[in-house]
Amino acid sequence: MAEERASFGSKLGMILATAGGAVGLGNVWRFPYMTGQNGGAAFILIYIGCVLLLGIPCMISEFIIGRHGASNTFRAYSKMSGGKAWKYVGLLGVLTGFLITGYYAVVSGWCLQYIYASVMGELHGDPTAVKTYFDTFATSPVRPIFWTVVILWVTHFVIIHGIRGGIEKASKLLMPTLFVLLLVIVVAACLLPGAEKGISFLLKPDFSKVTHQTFLNALGQSFYSLSIAMGCICTYASYYTRQTNLANSAIQVALVDTFVAILAGLVIFPAAFSVGVNPGSGPSLVFITLPNVFNEAFSGMPVIGWIVSLMFYSLLSLAALTSLISLHEVSTSFFSEELHLSRKTGATIVTVATTIIGAFCSLSLGAVNWLYVGDKTLFDVFDFVTGQIFLPVGGFLTCIFLGWFIPKTVVKDEFTNWGTLRGRFFGVFLFLVRFVCPLAILGIFLHQFNVI
Ligand code: PHE
Repeated sequence: MAEERASFGSKLGMILATAGGAVGLGNVWRFPYMTGQNGGAAFILIYIGCVLLLGIPCMISEFIIGRHGASNTFRAYSKMSGGKAWKYVGLLGVLTGFLITGYYAVVSGWCLQYIYASVMGELHGDPTAVKTYFDTFATSPVRPIFWTVVILWVTHFVIIHGIRGGIEKASKLLMPTLFVLLLVIVVAACLLPGAEKGISFLLKPDFSKVTHQTFLNALGQSFYSLSIAMGCICTYASYYTRQTNLANSAIQVALVDTFVAILAGLVIFPAAFSVGVNPGSGPSLVFITLPNVFNEAFSGMPVIGWIVSLMFYSLLSLAALTSLISLHEVSTSFFSEELHLSRKTGATIVTVATTIIGAFCSLSLGAVNWLYVGDKTLFDVFDFVTGQIFLPVGGFLTCIFLGWFIPKTVVKDEFTNWGTLRGRFFGVFLFLVRFVCPLAILGIFLHQFNVI
């Protein structure tokens, strides 16, 4: 069975696909506003520290389990668990990936609507008009669901073409397009008058704003951005060949992910500062603040503003799409392998089920008033349960499983295999996974419930 398993056809394709899974809305939308709220460059430095010391080791751990298991995340954990309950950690990863797919598709759909709105020039007007536009759209019953369905079926189309013909091929096309779009908009934003203030905010650290909260935010953001504990990394690694050097690959993926996040900052800060807007404004940043920023910054050259806006939302949609593909694959491989279905049938189950979840999440934002749990909308419940509970629990248990329970010889063999590093960093890796990562994850988990 292991021989028959599909694999990525090239190293570049494999890195682009995995980086595509990691690079998502988190990079372009969440990272800049977190940076804005947490002291700019100081936050970025702490973030890079979290990626190096915690994100990369966790990613390598998932790579090891995925490649060794060469199957969907649930079965990969089962194979290594020797009949013990650790397989449920794999199942949790699949469940997390599945649940996120639905609500992530809703926000991805918003990005498509904003491409359409940019083309039609609907994002013009004064700041209140832009806010009303977003509020009316996001709470309406039909349009957001329409776009959710569109993006999920595009994802479906890629997935049914398999690993090489679907995921790898799409990543090789979409990721370079994303880089080009990003670079062009970075240049456009940095050339705006007054852009220097934004650039220096991003590059000159202000440590006076750093608190312990900054560290926790940076850690949470790094895990979210690298798609840790969602099943995606483990699933993609199951398509890696024995020749893949896992440590190098994790470093490359983390580099691409961080680079894209910083470049996204180099669009948003210079543009926002040039018109005197606060970029730390939170989740509304890309759908309300930015259209206003683009309107004002390019008011003298509306055609450029039109092009920048179109390019920005296309870039955001591409980033969302490649992440959605990686999320979809987690559940598709699970259903098709565990229920012995064809890939197409497995994918159809996932697409239909996540469309339903997405539709309910979208409706909960205002179109109907009964989709609440306590005072949270269904949308927020999914976000909270997956991001705040499942992610830390899954990440913590994965570190404990790999660090303490999987035989060290197996871990070492996977880590050093084809390594140019020849296992020199194996001791450091194991130390981080055994002690530092679980403690740090426990820290964020307890802190968010105000226990510490
Ligand atoms: N890493 C993605 C981002 O930055 C988010 C994501 C999480 C994608 C989990 C897939 C799985 O947006």
